[in-house]
Amino acid sequence: MKTPLLLVVLLTACAGLRAESPAPTATAPTADHGQETELDDKMSAMNGAFKKLRRQIADPAANASSLELVARLRAAAEASIPLVPEKTKLLPEADREKFVAAYEAKMKDFVAEVQKLEAALQAGKNDEAAAVLARLGTLQKEGHREFRPAKKE
Ligand code: HEM
Repeated sequence: MKTPLLLVVLLTACAGLRAESPAPTATAPTADHGQETELDDKMSAMNGAFKKLRRQIADPAANASSLELVARLRAAAEASIPLVPEKTKLLPEADREKFVAAYEAKMKDFVAEVQKLEAALQAGKNDEAAAVLARLGTLQKEGHREFRPAKKE
């Protein structure tokens, strides 16, 4: 009987292929599309602090509170550096490493700007702080354009 033998051969080949297919890489996030990711959580924390900062950055009387918000922004941004954007798993395997490295570099740039924001506030330079905050807004837009999935549902 030819058919059962063929079936056995095919099944064995499939099992072999499955065993050889690469395990999910460390760079691929595990959350399903549309599910909250750890990075989403950090971003939400950044969002809250960033919105408040925009309202009060020009006001020297609010500098103590602004410095607390900056500390929250900085902590969330630093914690975001080693996280992997959801979009990574939508990319071909060969492009992922470069993508994650570019994300990491961008987030480090962001943290460096947050440090400048902190320094400006500590020095009581609110005009300078407002200018740095505007740059953070630009980095946010660039970061989202490049690293955020086009649509999350
Ligand atoms: C002021 C700065 C920023 C704010 C306020 C902000 C805010 C947000 C918010 C509200 C979300 C959606 C979270 C959710 O769905 O619950 C988000 C997602 C995201 N943001 Fe930002 N963001 C900022 C900067 C950045 C930067 C600089 C980058 C990249 C270097 C970045 C990369 C991402 C990515 C990749 C996602 C999707 C999350 C994922 O892939 O798991 N963001 N951000």
